[in-house]
Amino acid sequence: MPLKIIEYDSPEYGQMIRLRNEILRKPLGLHFNPEELSREKEDILIGAFEEERLIGCCLLTAQDDGTCRLRQMAVNATLRQKGIGASLMNFAENIARDKGYGGLVMHARKVAVGFYKKCGYHITGDEFYEVGIPHYKMVKRLI
Ligand SMILES: CC(C)(COP(=O)(O)OP(=O)(O)OC[C@H]1O[C@@H](n2cnc3c(N)ncnc32)[C@H](O)[C@@H]1OP(=O)(O)O)[C@@H](O)C(=O)NCCC(=O)NCCS
Repeated sequence: MPLKIIEYDSPEYGQMIRLRNEILRKPLGLHFNPEELSREKEDILIGAFEEERLIGCCLLTAQDDGTCRLRQMAVNATLRQKGIGASLMNFAENIARDKGYGGLVMHARKVAVGFYKKCGYHITGDEFYEVGIPHYKMVKRLI
């Protein structure tokens, strides 16, 4: 399964938006707005592919404190529990480490906390709500 960096505004980026919309936004009755997406020019966009088809994704956003924030992790619903999410995470961590970031942080949906724990992340702070559902801040040192 190839993992690669996706170029902003490319056809692969179009697939990424569709996958994220399907998995992360539509079920909550939400959608992306153009302003939000235009900020992704600065992000590192990551995809897992089955031939030409995008089957999973995530992205990295630099934070001011020398850490990176992992966002928008999603795997095609029919292909879960096969290690695709863990492979995406490993790939993203290697990129962040290579770029000199000392740690990764995320706002993890409560339903995905077990997945992130398996990847070595731990909860810091109390439960909070984002996009209308419970989340936890989770962190991992990379260096
Ligand atoms: C969370 C998600 C990305 C995991 O992807 P995946 O490809 O199914 O994960 P993997 O198969 O790599 O799982 C790695 C490990 O985590 C475990 N795991 C996966 N999802 C889990 C979950 N929701 N809760 C607890 N454990 C989970 C797997 O069983 C596996 O454990 P193992 O190493 O003991 O076998 C995927 O379920 C998803 O897209 N969910 C919907 C979107 C979402 O919630 N994204 C997170 C936003 S913060």
